[in-house]
Amino acid sequence: MSDTTVYVLNGPNLNLLGLREPEIYGSTTLDEIAGMLEDRARALGLTIDMRQTNHEGMLVDWLHEAQAEGARAVLLNAGAYTHTSIALLDAIKAIRTPVVEVHLSDPKTREPFRHLSYIGMAAALTVEGHGPDSYRIALEAVASGEV
Ligand code: DQA
Repeated sequence: MSDTTVYVLNGPNLNLLGLREPEIYGSTTLDEIAGMLEDRARALGLTIDMRQTNHEGMLVDWLHEAQAEGARAVLLNAGAYTHTSIALLDAIKAIRTPVVEVHLSDPKTREPFRHLSYIGMAAALTVEGHGPDSYRIALEAVASGEV
């Protein structure tokens, strides 16, 4: 682990990407996004540590770990916990490691219950609505020093 490592943390239901509501999230799987990000990270002199969990507390633990391990930044797609989790908001505020909020879709143009983002209240940057490219754009923001 070094300060060139970027944690890429994915929350609930994102393990089903590619199968899950493809009209909203597309047909690319999370493994394919990981492969694409690994290639881009290598070109940028970074390493990614890509993970997925369906459990809120695991995301809290991984945010703490990112700081403890000296990660450069965290890209966080918290899935539906984006709209509900004060625990994740507090975890982002509790660490100094910058967190970039990532979404494939643009929640702000979807159902009203997706318009509130607890993650966005503490994230250094939000990248949403670009499909799998949201992750690449977020990584490039870290590499460029924007985040
Ligand atoms: C999502 C948007 C969330 O509203 C939703 O609950 C998800 C995926 C996205 O990447 O577009 O699970 O985070």
